[in-house]
Amino acid sequence: MKMKKTILEVVNLKKYYHQGRGPFSLGRGRQRTIPAVDDVSFYLKENETLGLVGESGSGKTTVGKTILRLIPATSGEIFFDGKEILSLSAGEFHPLRKDMQMVFQDLDAGLNPKMRVQAILKEAVRVHHQMSSPEVDDRIRTLLEQVNLKESKLGNFPHELSGGEKRRVGIARALAVGARFLVADEPTSGLDVSIQAQVVNLLKDLQDRLGLSYLFISHDLRMVELVSHKVAVMYLGRIVELGLAGHIAHAPRHPYTRSLWSSLVTKESREVSAPTSPGSSGDWGVFDFERSFSGCRFAPRCPVYQEQARPDICTDPVSEPQLYDVGRAHKVACHFPLS
Ligand SMILES: Nc1ncnc2c1ncn2[C@@H]1O[C@H](COP(=O)(O)OP(=O)(O)O)[C@@H](O)[C@H]1O
Ligand code: SF4
Ligand SMILES: [Mg+2]
Repeated sequence: MKMKKTILEVVNLKKYYHQGRGPFSLGRGRQRTIPAVDDVSFYLKENETLGLVGESGSGKTTVGKTILRLIPATSGEIFFDGKEILSLSAGEFHPLRKDMQMVFQDLDAGLNPKMRVQAILKEAVRVHHQMSSPEVDDRIRTLLEQVNLKESKLGNFPHELSGGEKRRVGIARALAVGARFLVADEPTSGLDVSIQAQVVNLLKDLQDRLGLSYLFISHDLRMVELVSHKVAVMYLGRIVELGLAGHIAHAPRHPYTRSLWSSLVTKESREVSAPTSPGSSGDWGVFDFERSFSGCRFAPRCPVYQEQARPDICTDPVSEPQLYDVGRAHKVACHFPLS
């Protein structure tokens, strides 16, 4: 069997946001620093999917945007095809931009409301490729076929499309540019359950046909397990567990990963018994960086910490748990990993 190439490697990536105290603080208010991504490392093999899972606010989108240089990193290195890209000038990075694209969580992102689908795709095809008009039309027809969209939709404006169709156009647009690596940020959010499955199957199908590599971002561990080869679990800016999808889903070693499952289960039973009110869905785990922490960031919510009678090491400021190997390509950052 051929050894798969590493297409992406992220090394000690940090992204800190600095928030002022607002326009009326007259320079006296202190700045707040949010360590949205705090020393994250992982790699992705060609033609594989790495799932990035964690509650809202854990830093997943920030990881994706930093990799694509849509926002600047605070520090760290990112290797794409073996080449470090954070140190490249904008001009040096430009030719690589076509290789790596984002499918944004927002269904309308990147879809100019004043442009018909045809124009949107044309623009995307042309941005990095010199092509004659017949070649462009050919390319667009291929793209439509690849994302399973009827040719009649070419004449539509974005607002005339269903959510699932918008998502397909968004994916086609990323492919039109020529992407080999996609960051798919919650690509099923805002879609009906039946459509979610179609989008997931489409992404898998495209991966098989075109050899694509994905960073698949979702707060839903079930979804992530379905599409990913490996899974990284994020909590407050850090990866707390990393391993093969089946192991992370069915034999988690980190207490947080286990609680991700139970929160899914309780969320589901709640939804069955009482439909959640608008706005409340999806925020079952929103947290913020306001709470100060020392040692393990998960300690304030950790059931194992409670069961173990609050061991000092969990909150020792110099002992923040680091990822370590527990065998079978599995890593966990916890002083008392589950067995
Ligand atoms: N532009 C920004 N300025 C300040 N803080 C931000 C910005 N974008 C995200 N954050 C903060 O960074 C943290 C991680 O956000 P995000 O990457 O969007 O998480 P996720 O995608 O996992 O929900 C959150 O606390 C969020 O409020
Ligand atoms: S290090 Fe301690 S507090 Fe943190 S997850 Fe493990 S048991 Fe819980
Ligand atoms: Mg996000």
